Amino acid sequence: MLHNALAGLAIRPGDIDDGSHQNRIYVDGTFGRGGHSAAILEALGGRGHLHALDRDPEAGHHAWREFAGRGNFTFHARNFGAIAAFANELGIASRIDGVLLDLGVSSPQFDNASRGFSFANDGPLDMRMNPNAGESAAAWLARAKEAEIADVLYQFGEERNSRRIARRIVETRSESPIATTTQLAALIASVPGPRSHKIHPATRSFQAIRIFINQELAELEAALQAMPLLLAPGGRLAVISFHSLEDRIVKRFIRDSALKAVSREFPGDDEIAANPRARSAVLRVAERPA
Ligand SMILES: C[S@@+](CC[C@H](N)C(=O)[O-])C[C@H]1O[C@@H](n2cnc3c(N)ncnc32)[C@H](O)[C@@H]1O
Repeated sequence: MLHNALAGLAIRPGDIDDGSHQNRIYVDGTFGRGGHSAAILEALGGRGHLHALDRDPEAGHHAWREFAGRGNFTFHARNFGAIAAFANELGIASRIDGVLLDLGVSSPQFDNASRGFSFANDGPLDMRMNPNAGESAAAWLARAKEAEIADVLYQFGEERNSRRIARRIVETRSESPIATTTQLAALIASVPGPRSHKIHPATRSFQAIRIFINQELAELEAALQAMPLLLAPGGRLAVISFHSLEDRIVKRFIRDSALKAVSREFPGDDEIAANPRARSAVLRVAERPA
C-alpha cells in the first residue's frame, strides 16, 4: 500500500506554479516509524516541506533519531484529530498539497508487550497510543458500567457476544482487578457464545477497547471534516483504513464532501503474504477540485 498511497498523493516536488514561489506542503498524520514519511521525502527530493504528526512518544523519539538532519521535515507530537488547529497555527490552512492517514496501530506498538495492544503477548492492559494522556484500558474496565462496556464491544468490535462478555468482566473485577492482556483474553475466551473459527475469541473485544480508549473514530471524523478547508486546490487526501468501521466513515465522508473521489485500492496477494495484517486494508484517495 506504500507505493499506491504515494502514487495516490501524486507528489509534486516543485514550487507552486502561481508565481508566489511558495513550497509544496505535505502532511503525514500518522508518522509511526516513518516508512511513508521517508518515501514522501524521497519523492520531494529535498524540496517542499513534510510535516509529520504522531501522538505516540515512541514515534517522536524515532523521528528525532532517524530524521533529525532533514531540512524539509518537521515532527509534531500531536493528534491528527486536531489537524485544523495545527494547520492554523502554522499558517498552512488551504495550502496543503497532500495529507496521508495510515490508520490504526503500528507494528512496533502492537509487538511491544508493555503497550498492552496484543493478547498474544502478556503485558499491562494499557492500549493508549499516547501513554501520557487519557485513561488506560485497565483503568476504564475497572470503573465502566456493564452496559457501557457491552456497547463499546458491540459498536467498535461488532462483537455479538458483547453482553455476556461485559457481564463476565464486571463479575471478575469484583473479585480481582483485570490488569493484563492475557488475563482479559482468557476471560473472554471462557465466555460461551457464537464463535468464529478464523479469529481468536478476544480479537473483536481487543479491537473495540483500543478504538474506544484512543477515540480513533472521533479522531478520524475530526480530521476528515477539516480536509476541505486544509487542502490546496488540487490537493490530495490518502487514507489507509484497516477495518470496515474506519473505511465506512472515509467512504461516506468522501461521498458527501466537496472532495472528488480519485481511487479505491486493496493490497495485492504478495503484500498480504508478506504482512497478514494488511489483509483488511483499503486505500481511498480524494482530491480537492482545482
Ligand atoms: C499504522 S501506523 C503508521 C505507520 C507509518 N505509516 C509508517 O510508515 O511507519 C499508525 C500510527 O499513527 C499513530 N496515530 C494513530 N492515531 C493517531 C492520532 N489520532 N493522532 C496522531 N497519531 C495517531 C499511531 O500512534 C501510529 O504510530
